[in-house]
Amino acid sequence: MSDLPPVGHGLAAPSAAFAAAAPGRTPGPPLWLLLELTYRCPLHCVFCYNPTEFANTGAELSTDDWLRVLREARALGAVQLGLSGGEPLARDDLESIVAEARALGFYINLITSGIGLSEARIGALKRAGLDHIQLSFQDSSREMNDFLSSTRTFELKAQVAALIRQYDYPMVLNVVLHRHNIDHVGEILAMAERMGAQYVELANTQYYGWAWLNREQLLPSRAQLERAEEVTRAFRARVGNRMQVYFVVPDYFEVRPKACMSGLGSVFLAVAPDGTAMPCHAARMLPGLALPNVRTSPVREIWYESTAFNRFRGQGWMKEPCASCPERDTDFGGCRCQAYLLTGDADNADPVCDLSPHHHLVSEAVARAERAVAASAGQVQKLKFRDHRISIPVVTGDPVAGA
Ligand code: SF4
Ligand code: FES
Repeated sequence: MSDLPPVGHGLAAPSAAFAAAAPGRTPGPPLWLLLELTYRCPLHCVFCYNPTEFANTGAELSTDDWLRVLREARALGAVQLGLSGGEPLARDDLESIVAEARALGFYINLITSGIGLSEARIGALKRAGLDHIQLSFQDSSREMNDFLSSTRTFELKAQVAALIRQYDYPMVLNVVLHRHNIDHVGEILAMAERMGAQYVELANTQYYGWAWLNREQLLPSRAQLERAEEVTRAFRARVGNRMQVYFVVPDYFEVRPKACMSGLGSVFLAVAPDGTAMPCHAARMLPGLALPNVRTSPVREIWYESTAFNRFRGQGWMKEPCASCPERDTDFGGCRCQAYLLTGDADNADPVCDLSPHHHLVSEAVARAERAVAASAGQVQKLKFRDHRISIPVVTGDPVAGA
């Protein structure tokens, strides 16, 4: 966060209604604002975290709505802005949104597949004040990149990488890792080096949305993970400070969960294309959360007063073993979405934790992955690609049934 601009003046104070709803606690501002501008995307990635029912959500917000959300969130103290999707470049008002965010003093990060980033658009985005571009690749080879996204986009992405350098942006590559590409980490890092990347994020798949549907085919084995970590260590030792490489370990292989979102309602606010406001990007799946919408409620009211954003603040919602655990102040019981997906109850401890009575759900999934990889049964043919046509049918069942 050191590269963030200073927070401006005029930060809104929480209301008396919030103080009454959450005695003794005053949440800070939503420092991180993520605008998912659209669910439209030319890619069909098998690990996409977008909701599987994305095709069944309402119309996208208008330009004026997005600009209002920016103004309201900035007035609350938001400083870091992520523009994602779907593919945010599918919005032809992206430049206007960036310009407004720049005028308001946000630090603006575009999270993109690169598809649609022509020289004309990157020039316009630069003039509008875009700070940072994070470009995703699916793999180091054209064949696997294009297979995993169900497109022919590898060459286009390589051209976009060159444009990003040409326009003096730091080259930031993101590659989501899973069973089918984790053995290529050496080649992925070599590709990043050839492209002049300064930062590479090797982010193991988080199992939400489409990735959850494909979990049985995507989870790597522990041996794959350890080899990839070793390759990454050796690469770091060779390149030194020329390139920062972040390796995000898949939490299924840990015994303590990630402190997801630093606790829901703590610093993160996401807005979906239809205006649904969420305390995490996957929260749409959580039952009974009554998510508010920026079309009908001001951001300030959403952040401080809505039931959805207060639901998991503090520790009052926790069950045992979290409720009396000394680690609850650091991991907040883990990820609410993962707890719901795996156990059917978002109030449970994240089953990644080996103190959870449901931890076996994680260790059994890992054991199945070990067997599948050992048998070379990657079941690539069973992958479900993010696709508008199958988006609605795949959500008709109980999500927990897929566990
Ligand atoms: Fe975290 Fe809950 Fe596990 Fe304690 S029991 S370490 S609070 S997830
Ligand atoms: Fe929703 Fe972790 S992804 S709380």
